[in-house]
Amino acid sequence: MGFGARITGWGSAVPDTVVTNAEFEGRLATSDEWITERTGIKERRWGGTTSSLSIEAGNAAIKRAGLSAADIDLLILSTTTPDQAVPATSAVVSHKIGTSGGAFDLNAACAGYVYAMVVGRAMIGAGVNKKVLVLGADTLSRITDMDDRGTAILFADGAGGVVLEATEDQDDFLGWDLGVDGSAQPILYADHGSYLRMEGREVYKKAVRVMVESAEIAMHRAGVTSDDIALCVPHQANIRIIEAACNRLSIPMERASVVLDRFGNTSSGSIPLALVDAEERNRLNPGDLVLFSGFGAGMTWASAVVRWSGN
Ligand code: ACO
Repeated sequence: MGFGARITGWGSAVPDTVVTNAEFEGRLATSDEWITERTGIKERRWGGTTSSLSIEAGNAAIKRAGLSAADIDLLILSTTTPDQAVPATSAVVSHKIGTSGGAFDLNAACAGYVYAMVVGRAMIGAGVNKKVLVLGADTLSRITDMDDRGTAILFADGAGGVVLEATEDQDDFLGWDLGVDGSAQPILYADHGSYLRMEGREVYKKAVRVMVESAEIAMHRAGVTSDDIALCVPHQANIRIIEAACNRLSIPMERASVVLDRFGNTSSGSIPLALVDAEERNRLNPGDLVLFSGFGAGMTWASAVVRWSGN
């Protein structure tokens, strides 16, 4: 076989500032009870920049992999909230971390992190790269209308990522699925220089459907069923979306990683934050199959089944 890829390092970063649900009460017509019941979010982090959070997460992932920054020969940064329009935030992140080779940003909204992992795996599979740093980072608080109770309570800031290394003897990426339906653009978008606008109910309905369909395709391509999945790492948008999707996939919630109660919806940051949290809680063992599944503005969706081999 050609080259496969393994995850050999992981890291995450969140800003220090904690914003609790109580802080919205009084300012917006909402309550801790409403936010907790309808979303599962209790608090979130706001602050930092997409590059600063990416650098912290990236350095942690490289250290965990036992590598030095110069060993990395490609950096892919999934983000919807770049620090500037030009240059790509990955250029700054690459410079500050000290990675070699190329770097580029990828924007597939909240599904972007899984897109980026699949692209990283594909570059390795094509023999182009050997060690790829795949980061997901967003600072959604910068594009959130803090006077809109429908979105202000949801969106937050955070980052995470993994190091993928080429292997000749095994491939931990067993199956994946990427998709997009641009006709859904009006239900979730942000114009240049403007705030995110969302029809929450419409997003909710479509999100459950696309996550389930995409996860099923990825598992089918991997030749596994939901019984084989040790850990589901879903996009962290709303606990009810995660519960509904897991229910339809016959994956018990005990096998899902949930961090949105502490971090809210951090878009590209959410899946790697949930992965790193699960690893830190010793929920991952070598050989475990992990199902990643995300959806986002576009509407985009992406799923991947990856064997966890640790390092
Ligand atoms: N506090 C109190 N009431 C609220 C709040 C709030 N923070 N937000 C909305 N409401 C009200 C609405 O105004 C509405 O009132 P009305 O009946 O008088 O019109 C009522 O609550 C119900 O509103 P719905 O939108 O139907 O509430 P729902 O139960 O669907 O929950 C939510 C809203 C949490 C936004 C949900 O629809 C959801 O999670 N949608 C998906 C969001 C998502 O996944 N976004 C991320 C996608 S990817 C990306 O991030 C880029």
